[in-house]
Amino acid sequence: LLSSVLVNQADAGLANGSKFLGNIIAGSVPPSYGTYWNQVTPENSTKWESVEGSRNNMNWSQADTAYNYARSNGFPFKFHTLVWGAQEPGWVKGLSAADQKAEVTQWIKAAGQRYPNAAFVDVVNEPLHQKPSYRNAIGGDGSTGWDWVIWSFQQARQAFPNAKLHINDYGIINDPSLADQYVNIINQLKSRGLIDGIGIQCHHFSMDNVSVNTMNTVLNKLSATGLPIYVSELDITGDDNTQLARYKEKFPVLWQNPSVKGVTLWGYIQGQTWKDGTHLLNSNGTERPALQWLRQYLKR
Ligand code: G3I
Repeated sequence: LLSSVLVNQADAGLANGSKFLGNIIAGSVPPSYGTYWNQVTPENSTKWESVEGSRNNMNWSQADTAYNYARSNGFPFKFHTLVWGAQEPGWVKGLSAADQKAEVTQWIKAAGQRYPNAAFVDVVNEPLHQKPSYRNAIGGDGSTGWDWVIWSFQQARQAFPNAKLHINDYGIINDPSLADQYVNIINQLKSRGLIDGIGIQCHHFSMDNVSVNTMNTVLNKLSATGLPIYVSELDITGDDNTQLARYKEKFPVLWQNPSVKGVTLWGYIQGQTWKDGTHLLNSNGTERPALQWLRQYLKR
């Protein structure tokens, strides 16, 4: 029986400067979800391709499941994601520039109408890695080098006036020079009042072997922008002992940083993670040592 849990209801509203520890929901909500996590991000169901796989026919049913679960538990909900080069609908590529712009505008508006109480929105995902096929239709690089990103945030600000708008990318925590490029985009958005938080994904390929020193170098660069940082997609691999050692060494570097306001993990149940070996809960319900440690560390 799980007597101590990671979830603290007060954290859900981010009261008293506390931080949330979230996870993803893919389809139905696992019965153990609320035992561990107090913030919700849909794994795939709020991606454009998932919602509007065929043009003008939006299907929100799986996304609604995650949203309604979050709302009924008082957990912050993050919309992931509006503009991203992967998982854009296939039909967008063939359209004229004018139609592409009209379609993405309509998609962003529809998302805001559907989830007006989303706490966070990943507005642009992976701008340093996976640019959308339609980026020239929405401003291209332009004079700032990132006009399409600025345009996307302007649309998101109108569509989600109550949400905190985030940028999100991977490979940052282990790469100070990529972090510099990220900061450049972030500062362009910040000077226009368009961004509220920085997402860093922190998947296993960045986390498993990164040094604490490099992590701190990157976190300092990001926190110098003055914006809050959210670890958005954490996962760490390894056999039980290796994974435990990695969590013990690296999780506190993220969690204790004063600029880091929340950590979201990307899956936790064996057989249901995008990358084998990152799970924390075995499929038979037993907790891996890293999860046991995490609960003890957070005193929950
Ligand atoms: O739903 C279909 C199913 O009907 C079909 O039979 C099957 C056959 O391939 O595919 C299923 O869709 C898959 C989908 O996950 C749902 O399981 C897609 O092929 C697969 O590509 C998709 O992968 C997702 C991936 O994003 C796509 O880029 C992963 O689940 C998801 O965890 C992953 O998440 C991303 C974040 O959004 C952004 N950061 C990186 C992260 C990990 O790659």
